[in-house]
Amino acid sequence: MIDPAYATDALIAEDIEAYLAGHEAKSMLRFITCGSVDDGKSTLIGRLLYDSKMIFEDQLASLTADSKAVGTRGGEIDFALLVDGLAAEREQGITIDVAYRFFATEKRKFIVADTPGHEQYTRNMVTGASTADLAVILIDARKGVLTQTRRHSTLVHLLGIRQIVLAVNKMDLVDYDQGAFDAIVADYRGFAQAIGIEDFTAIPISGVAGDNITGASANTPWYAGPSLIGHLEEVPVEADRLAAAPFRMAVQWVNRPNLDFRGFSGLIASGRVRPGDAVRVLPSGKTSSIERIVTMGGDLDEAVAGQSVTITLADEIDCSRGDVICAADMPLEVADQFEATLVWMAEESMFPGRPYLMKISAVTVPASITEPKYEIDVNTQAHLPSKCLGLNAIGVVNLSTDRAIPFAPYAESADLGGFILIDRLTNATVGAGMIHFALRRAHNIHWQAIDIDREAHARQKNQRPRLLWFTGLSGSGKSTIANLVEKKLHALGRHSFLLDGDNVRHGLNRDLGFTDADRVENIRRVGEVAKLMTDAGLIVLTAFISPFRAEREMVRRMLPEGEFVEIFIDTPLEVAEARDVKGLYAKARAGKLANFTGIDSPYEAPETPDIRIDTTRMSPEDAAEAIVDNVLDAWSPVI
Ligand code: ADX
Repeated sequence: MIDPAYATDALIAEDIEAYLAGHEAKSMLRFITCGSVDDGKSTLIGRLLYDSKMIFEDQLASLTADSKAVGTRGGEIDFALLVDGLAAEREQGITIDVAYRFFATEKRKFIVADTPGHEQYTRNMVTGASTADLAVILIDARKGVLTQTRRHSTLVHLLGIRQIVLAVNKMDLVDYDQGAFDAIVADYRGFAQAIGIEDFTAIPISGVAGDNITGASANTPWYAGPSLIGHLEEVPVEADRLAAAPFRMAVQWVNRPNLDFRGFSGLIASGRVRPGDAVRVLPSGKTSSIERIVTMGGDLDEAVAGQSVTITLADEIDCSRGDVICAADMPLEVADQFEATLVWMAEESMFPGRPYLMKISAVTVPASITEPKYEIDVNTQAHLPSKCLGLNAIGVVNLSTDRAIPFAPYAESADLGGFILIDRLTNATVGAGMIHFALRRAHNIHWQAIDIDREAHARQKNQRPRLLWFTGLSGSGKSTIANLVEKKLHALGRHSFLLDGDNVRHGLNRDLGFTDADRVENIRRVGEVAKLMTDAGLIVLTAFISPFRAEREMVRRMLPEGEFVEIFIDTPLEVAEARDVKGLYAKARAGKLANFTGIDSPYEAPETPDIRIDTTRMSPEDAAEAIVDNVLDAWSPVI
C-alpha cells in the first residue's frame, strides 16, 4: 500500500521518467514556497498537485480515508496530508527538510521545492532556493505581513531569486474582502521596496477552497489578475535568460580515451555553442575554436545552457578540470579575492582566518574568510557588526582563495558565482555563498620577486629552517621545554627564535582575548610571523596552547613539506591543574576566569603529532634532550 503522505515519493522513478518524457517539449519552472504550516503551505502544494492530476486514484482513496481518520475538515480531503511527509512531522505540525515535487500542466512542467518555515532551517531554504526561478511567499490573509514574511523575502532576495509571488491565502476566512487584500499588498510593497525587491505579483487565493488557483474565482470579482497556475505558466524562466547570455562551460572532466581524442565535458552554464565558435580557456586565457560537440547520440550542431556535453577544440591548448571555456570575446573575470554573501550552515561558527575548502563550479580551492563586514539580521534587515557567523547567520564577507579562479557574479550565473565551503577536517559543507564581485586589490597586489630568497637566508646561517610548534594545555610545560630546547640549539650554534604565548599576547596580539574566534586569529598571526622567520632562515619555536586542529594544520600547510614539527606536550588536565603555576585553574574553577582551556573552552589534542612528550614520565630536561635528538638529523647544515 502506498502511504498517502508520500504523494510524489510514491511516483516511482519509472513513472516520473515516463511522465516527464511526455512533457519534454515544455519549459520547466522551478520554484520554492515560503511560509509556515499555519499559512497553509502544505495545503497549497497539495492543491497544485491535485489540480494538475498528479495524484493516482488509489492514493486519493487512501487520502480521503486518512483525512477522515485524522478527523480534519470532516472527511474533506486535507491536502496538507499529501505533503507533510513523515508521520512525526504531522504530529509536530511542522515540515522539515526540503522536498522536491513534480507536476505539470498543459503548458509547462514544474518542480517545487517545499522548504520549511522555521528559522533554524534557513539552510534548507537556501538549498531549495539555489536553483529556483521564482518564490511563492505565502501570507495568511487574517494575519498579514509577519516577521517571518519579511525574513523569507529577505532570504529570497539575497539568494538572487528575481520573481516573487505574494500569495495571500485563506481569503475564504476573511470573506474574500478586497480591503484586507489591498492592505496586505500595500504593506508588503513598502517593505519590498525598502529591501530592493523591484516587483512582485500579488494573488488572493484559498488553497482549501481552490480560489484563483487554476482559474478566476467567482468569489473575487474585484481581482483581475492571473490565477496562481496561470501566472506560473507564463513567467519567464531562468533557463531562457541563461540561454541568451554569453557561452560559458566549466570543465568537469577531461575525457581522453586515447591519444586521438581529447574532449572537455561539462554542463553549459550559460549561452549557446556551435562548432567553429571562437573560445577562450580561463584562467590561462588561451584561445581556440570549437571543433565538435559530441554526445552519445552523435555530434550536435548546437548546444545550449542546461545541456551536458563534451566539446573538442581545434588546437592542443592546456585545459583541465575546473577551467572554464568561454566565448572568446566575452571571457569571465579571474580573481583570488572576492566580496560575497555567506550563509553559515554549521553548528560550529565560521572563524575568520580559518582555512576552508571552497567548491565553485568544477574547482575546489583552499579559501579563507575575513571578519564579516556585517551580519544581516533577517528579521529587521539591520546590518549588525559581528566577528564570526553562527548557524543560519548571513553576512557579507571578503574571502581569498589560494589561487586565482574564473568566476561570474552570482547575479549573472548561479553556477559560476555560487559556492559552498567545506570543512577541511570533517568534509562537511559548512557554508554557502554568492560572489558579488572581485576585490580590486586582488588585481593590484603582486608578489615582489625577491632575489635573496629563503634558501639564500638559510644557506648563510648554514642550517635548515624549522618551525617547532609546541601545543598543549596551559601549564603543560610548553614554555619550559621550548626554552630548554632553544638553549641547546643556541649552544650548538643554531640560529633560533622563541615565540611564546604570554609574550606575544602583550604586543602583537594585545587586542585578542580568549574566545574561540580570538584564539583562531592569535594562531593565524603567530603562524604568519613564524613563517616569515623561517623564511629568514631561523629555527623557530612557538609555545601556544593552539587548541584547534584546523589552525595547526593551516600553519603546517603554510610551510614547505617537513618544515613544521608538531610537538604535543601531553600533560593530563588533572596534572596541569594540580601544578597550577599561575593560579589560573583555581580562578577558572571559581568562575572568575571565563573560557579557560580545559575547563570551559575546548582543547583538540593532536591525533598524530610529530613528537609526543608525556610529561608525567619525563623531566623537562629529558624532554628537551629527546626533542633535539629526534630532529637533529634534519638540521644538518645546508650544503
Ligand atoms: S591560545 O589558546 O590562543 O593558543 P595562548 O597560548 O596564546 O592561547 O595563551 C595562553 C596563556 O594565556 C595561558 O598559558 C595563560 O597563561 C593565559 N590565559 C589567560 N586567560 C586564559 C584562558 N581563558 N584560557 C587559556 N589561557 C589563558
